[in-house]
Amino acid sequence: MQKILVARPIFPDVVERLKQYFEVDWNDGPALDSDELARRLADKDGAITVGDPIGAATLAQAPRLRVVANMAVGYNNFDMPAFNAAGVLATNTPDVLNEATADFGWALMMACSRRIAESEHWLRAGEWRAWRYDGFLGGDVYGATLGIIGMGRIGQALARRASGFAMRVVYHNRSRVAPEIEAALGAEYLSKEDLLRQADHVVLVLPYSAQSHHTIGAQELALMKPTATLTNIARGGIVDDAALFEALRDKRIAAAGLDVFEGEPNVHPGLLTVPNVVLTPHIASATESTRRAMANLAADNLIAALGVGPRAGQPPNPINPEVLGKARS
Ligand code: GLV
Repeated sequence: MQKILVARPIFPDVVERLKQYFEVDWNDGPALDSDELARRLADKDGAITVGDPIGAATLAQAPRLRVVANMAVGYNNFDMPAFNAAGVLATNTPDVLNEATADFGWALMMACSRRIAESEHWLRAGEWRAWRYDGFLGGDVYGATLGIIGMGRIGQALARRASGFAMRVVYHNRSRVAPEIEAALGAEYLSKEDLLRQADHVVLVLPYSAQSHHTIGAQELALMKPTATLTNIARGGIVDDAALFEALRDKRIAAAGLDVFEGEPNVHPGLLTVPNVVLTPHIASATESTRRAMANLAADNLIAALGVGPRAGQPPNPINPEVLGKARS
């Protein structure tokens, strides 16, 4: 039987499914450090990871490894040139999380613009003595301008929701989406700078890469309206969290909603001290059905890539399909 590593806690019934095909080594505990991960991968044919970094050194120590299935749509934890050089397949879990993640982006944007977390903390602290006409005044969402940076599948799902709020939708992306998609979404392409100047609510949903590192830093924050909000449901590192903290502290923008952080699970200490930010622990895809779908899709990818199951040899979500069928190097 082929051997696999499930590197993180996942739904036990998905691990049971994997046991029908493989001898499973399951780390149902805290994330493995890089040495332990490499040690546990050394005799494995495949693995399921959730954001665990895998690079050339780890792949070199795992000569049998043929596939690593990430239970996430983002795969910046994989060094793809190293996967390609080693002839190891990488897979991810796109699409199944689009709607849940877009819902959550919307929830964070609404929560920070309407000051829901801040006022709730105040209420819990026993501060509510009387209703005031100027208590927790926020910014409008209905009729405002939504700026989406990253118009992929999740960005488009966000944009679709905007029509019910009568919003103007502007977007920025590495490349313009097809004119018929722009027309269907009612979305207008802008440069990043123009988007930042015009949007009332900026939502980030672009993949992390060396090129997208600090897409939003001090310079970009300075372009935003003082009444604007910034929501990050993409990846830590896309925003310069230190610069964002300063902008929030100095009220240079109104508020932020953050689900992802530089160096998470650590959070920039300043962000914990400012009231105008809503902070959540990387849960944008966290609905029962979506997380189950992601776990099952990661399992489908692994099973198929290792040549067993109903789709043997045809994993649904190869990131580097060019290595399929080639020998490991
Ligand atoms: C979550 O962050 C994902 O990439 O799926």
